Amino acid sequence: MPVTPSQEDYVEAIWGLIRNKGYARVSDIADRLGINSASVSKMLRKLDEDGVLVYEKYRGLNLTPEGFTQGQMLYERHKLLEAFLGYLGLSDGTAIHETVEGIEHHFSPDALAQVEMLVRFIQMRPQWWHEFLEWSERTESESAEVRPKDVRTTE
Ligand code: FE2
Repeated sequence: MPVTPSQEDYVEAIWGLIRNKGYARVSDIADRLGINSASVSKMLRKLDEDGVLVYEKYRGLNLTPEGFTQGQMLYERHKLLEAFLGYLGLSDGTAIHETVEGIEHHFSPDALAQVEMLVRFIQMRPQWWHEFLEWSERTESESAEVRPKDVRTTE
């Protein structure tokens, strides 16, 4: 069972490669994670020992059923958090992706379940969420107008 953030990144990347291309090569994983092939091979041996995948040096690798389930969960968690940040009004897809890459490993199952509930509620009540976004925009521009007057100097 992967436990560290970096193991999760591997499983997520491998799952994504297998889903898109039908296989994952060491060089593809290295490219996707921006690390060298030697580090990838080392981690693949560890994940093999942990029962997440089967890795044979010259024959490639495959996720075990447990690894596949894990990869799918990691992918869905990533997508859920991207949806959540999208609802917050962030529109830069790259920034959203990078933010999610940074935070996704640190959500407890309870916190994630509540984010999922919130996203479902937003989808059910778009008007409710729209009100929040309007309020947030208004409040932000009001406080931007007020801020310069609040600046106090010691002179
Ligand atoms: Fe991710």
